[in-house]
Amino acid sequence: MPDPIAPGKADQEIDAPTFALLQRIVERETGIALADGKRPMLQARLGSRLRSMGMSGFRAFLARLDDPAARSERAALISAITTNVTAFFREAHHFALLRERILPPLIEPLRRGGRLRLWSAACSTGEEAYSIAANLHLACPDIARLDARILATDIDEQVLCRAAEGDYGPRQLAALTPAQRSALFGPPGSTRIREDVRRLVQFLPLNLNGDWPMRGPFHVIFCRNVAIYFPRDRQERLWQRCADLLAPGGWLLLGHSERLTGPAAPAFRCEDITAYRKIG
Ligand SMILES: C[S@@+](CC[C@H](N)C(=O)[O-])C[C@H]1O[C@@H](n2cnc3c(N)ncnc32)[C@H](O)[C@@H]1O
Repeated sequence: MPDPIAPGKADQEIDAPTFALLQRIVERETGIALADGKRPMLQARLGSRLRSMGMSGFRAFLARLDDPAARSERAALISAITTNVTAFFREAHHFALLRERILPPLIEPLRRGGRLRLWSAACSTGEEAYSIAANLHLACPDIARLDARILATDIDEQVLCRAAEGDYGPRQLAALTPAQRSALFGPPGSTRIREDVRRLVQFLPLNLNGDWPMRGPFHVIFCRNVAIYFPRDRQERLWQRCADLLAPGGWLLLGHSERLTGPAAPAFRCEDITAYRKIG
């Protein structure tokens, strides 16, 4: 006898109208332009989550999304569509720049009682923020008693939980040099980010296309490998909002396939590969 509550095959697949509606919801909620070719990916990533949430299929899921109380469903959708690929010291030229040019002139004012604020604007599982923190710690070993903080944000709350844990697996550790490993993890054998490095970073959920509670100013914004998922008008609005939050002379670092274009561009000088400095 057939199982009366098992979903029909059609409901386990995302049909074209349901996918079109999901594309619109994703665009509205996150700014991410979900390409037509992503339908199988979304089906695969979300299918098992729907079953674990006890939902009969995608049409039921879609109907639920409109309910303001459907927070976990919206979070599951966001988690399913985001690409969270990252690595410690990814795009190493930015970390060399941070060490050699960006941080040295910022440390002296910090020691004289100033503030230092850096932002990892789409931090994924935290590797970018901790790489910044490890550099900061190396540049200024007594940083803990100074007013220096790294804000690390992402729209995907699942990756943020892992980031805040700061515990990493053999794959992430294997890619590090002994010096990087010690700067991040301390003594050999440890898989958790050292406490003095972890304490420099605050992780918070934030939608780059939503409201921002912080007022800045930031000295450095790492906004890397996230705007590529947004349509051009949203990218350019994002650069403008970053420009507004940066201190004069502050740095905006973008991902390898991103370029600063649009109304914010004249406010910056390109100083290095995808590294822009606010004029002033
Ligand atoms: C490819 S990862 C980049 C991680 C890191 N910045 C790097 O370059 O290694 C992209 C991240 O952007 C986040 N993201 C996507 N849309 C976002 C939005 N609207 N607001 C904030 N974060 C977003 C995703 O959740 C994902 O973790």
